[in-house]
Amino acid sequence: MGYSRRNFISFLGKASLGAVMMPQFLISCGNTTTPAPGFKNTPEAILKKLKNFVLKGMLPSDTDDLLLANGLKYNVIVKHGDKISVEDTFGDNNDFTCFIPFDEKNPKDGLLWVNHEYMNSLFVSGYNYRNPGATKTKEQVDKEIYSVGGTIVRIKEENGQWKVVENDPYNKRITAHTPIKLNWDVPIAGKNTAIGTLSNCSGGITPWNTFLTCEENYDSCFGEIKYDENNNRSRIASQYGWEKFYNRPPEHYGWVVEIDPKDGSAQKHIALGRFAHECCTLYELDDKRVVAYTGDDKNSEHLYKFISSKPGSLKEGTLYVADTINGKWLALDWSTQPLLKEKFKDQTEVLVRAREASKILKATELNRPEDIEIDPVTGHVFVSLTNNKPKNDFHGSILKIEETNGEYDALTFKASTYMAGGEENGFSCPDNLAFDMSGNLWITTDMSGSVMNREDKPYMPFKNNSLFVIPRYGKDAGKIIRVASAPIDAELTGPWFSPDGKSLFLSVQHPGEQTKDLQNPTSTWPFDVDNIPKSSVVAITGDLIEKMNKLQEIEARNS
Ligand code: FEO
Ligand code: CA
Ligand code: CA
Repeated sequence: MGYSRRNFISFLGKASLGAVMMPQFLISCGNTTTPAPGFKNTPEAILKKLKNFVLKGMLPSDTDDLLLANGLKYNVIVKHGDKISVEDTFGDNNDFTCFIPFDEKNPKDGLLWVNHEYMNSLFVSGYNYRNPGATKTKEQVDKEIYSVGGTIVRIKEENGQWKVVENDPYNKRITAHTPIKLNWDVPIAGKNTAIGTLSNCSGGITPWNTFLTCEENYDSCFGEIKYDENNNRSRIASQYGWEKFYNRPPEHYGWVVEIDPKDGSAQKHIALGRFAHECCTLYELDDKRVVAYTGDDKNSEHLYKFISSKPGSLKEGTLYVADTINGKWLALDWSTQPLLKEKFKDQTEVLVRAREASKILKATELNRPEDIEIDPVTGHVFVSLTNNKPKNDFHGSILKIEETNGEYDALTFKASTYMAGGEENGFSCPDNLAFDMSGNLWITTDMSGSVMNREDKPYMPFKNNSLFVIPRYGKDAGKIIRVASAPIDAELTGPWFSPDGKSLFLSVQHPGEQTKDLQNPTSTWPFDVDNIPKSSVVAITGDLIEKMNKLQEIEARNS
């Protein structure tokens, strides 16, 4: 079950909607002689030139624009409020993106999944909590509920520009009103179906080519259930107040949700536990069982992994939580953990109240685990720990997990800090991670709009949120280099490479989030005539992306 670079790359590279029906895996990496898609017949002269390639980074900026390093350009694919079909419009605050082509031989036409993490009521429903005596109407709540969840949209590249195929039959919205099956034998809060998905932050892709979308700060929508030491329940109110109009059980949110790209059907995977899931990153073992890594993005919460006991199952198996001090995965298993038996009545309750169960087992408290990615070259697992201000960690770090013997179903591992945020390294608050085809690591940052560019905060030197890359090879190997700077108040999220490595899909989320008055927005990006800032998905292309991805070829030839 050891790490296989070939397996991992093939898992990412084979994804296509065609492969769902007719698997046909064209793979390439490392020492294989088959060139990767898009890298055929590269002359030695080009490789030599690439070897001397120097990446010129950018200085921090507080400009209200999406600025890119030399050699990069972008086009906006879709933005908040855009019509995607006769019935549907694109939601707010887009985050995770995932692109699957229809045919692996044509990486320029496929389906894009986009998460809509949360919403800015001022832009979505017109509700402004700052107005004295403001109350939210049901009509406003309905608009807000519609603006979160996710979007499936067909996109194509033509003449170097990625565009939405308007009114394509695949285009559809999944919202906080969409019925979704709970993948569990025992009802949750008395039901087998939940209404809606929400707080969809980051996500993942399965080996069977479906999307995973993760429910993060779910308590902001319908609140939360709190338990006292005698297991008595009480309800905590939400930030948005949706429960005033829709009495939905908080236990139906905080799950990993799987979406079938072909028809938009969805299911929530109870076996992966309930908490503020940032992401879900899968590895397929040789026997087709899967390992799923997922983090709980809240101060002093935990890192988890699920190991399935049956091929391709996200239901049958065991959920573990990390003890990073002792390098152990602790089973959140009611049947074998006496301490869990004492507190909870069954395994379902352990999964619904996973945070409490993890604390009982003395799992390690981490500084807000965000995105998780597996290094395609070494097989190490990288976890963004974005920050933990109450513990005086303002800039976060990236954690490296080395599973024992490189086996993903191992129950022991070694943990170390790969890179720390702060002025010395020039970045703060790492969030999303993405490895490209060459194994360069791309990192986005998430300093909140309320603390950026303020003299009285430790985030001042970093200016706007940015996209960075750590090259794996060449003169800049191991350095962290800024390659994009976000508009005012925005964060860059959801980096995802097209299968040919020539385009980087990226979300520009919540520009102008600190706006108090629509007549005077803090950002006007993407510079529409109405001057209202809009979260948007962009495609970044250009020489620099292609060169970075081709570094893989140099390594392949040298190894
Ligand atoms: Fe939604 Fe953890 O970022
Ligand atoms: Ca995030
Ligand atoms: Ca974040």
